[in-house]
Amino acid sequence: MEKMTIPRFQALKGKGDKIISLTAYDWNMASILDGLGVDLILVGDSAGMVCAGHENTLPVTMDQMIYHTQCVSRGVRSALVIADMPFLSYQTGPADALFNAGRFLKEAGADGVKIEGGRAVAGTVRQMVEAGIPVMGHLGLTPQSVRIFGGYGVRCGSPAEAARLKADAKTLEEAGVFSMVLEKIPADLAHEVTDSVSIPTIGIGAGPHCDGQILVTHDLLGLFESFKPKFARQYTNLGKIIRKAVTAYIKDVKSGNFPSQEESF
Ligand code: KIV
Repeated sequence: MEKMTIPRFQALKGKGDKIISLTAYDWNMASILDGLGVDLILVGDSAGMVCAGHENTLPVTMDQMIYHTQCVSRGVRSALVIADMPFLSYQTGPADALFNAGRFLKEAGADGVKIEGGRAVAGTVRQMVEAGIPVMGHLGLTPQSVRIFGGYGVRCGSPAEAARLKADAKTLEEAGVFSMVLEKIPADLAHEVTDSVSIPTIGIGAGPHCDGQILVTHDLLGLFESFKPKFARQYTNLGKIIRKAVTAYIKDVKSGNFPSQEESF
């Protein structure tokens, strides 16, 4: 499969085919996803929760994200690899943002980066794009603002907040983001935003009208058991399958059934 580029990704908008995005944090999962026709693999800072066991994404560091992105890049031939910039790696100003985003492209093989926020980061986005760094936006429930929001509830319930998000989407588009994630907002609002911008919108808990969808792969596979968001459809229960397999292994070792003669030298 041909390597996905930013222009090819953007051209998917309006083609009628939904854009497929998933998260990955390591080589193994990235290689599996890449062979299946996933358009964009996000090395999400959700790694802090699903891989490291933190209760939110705030403790994630640049060096940890660089490591995860390096692992993912090694497993990907065709999908676009986008690295999530962790908390305080870009909010402190354009110079920090440029330096840190540059590391993802120079050291980790990413095709671009994702940052959270609207008008507050628009100036920074402009400078990053002018420097040659593709940037994906992220509006709605932006998890790095969990302390301000007080939790992970649906965003933009009020007309004022919805109007602000619509304006932020246009501001980000003008600043040069190549695409944006819309997280946990009403479906009608995501529909309106999707129709109002010329770049692809990727929804997570934002209804069916976005140009594409993204899920945390561990949620889809039933591997993350701390909580289950309503929007995360679970396609299998790997947690249960792993428990069954490991229980069988324990039983076989204890009973002397493993290893067998064929498995011995
Ligand atoms: O960190 C992440 O995995 C994300 C997606 C849920 C969009 O930001």
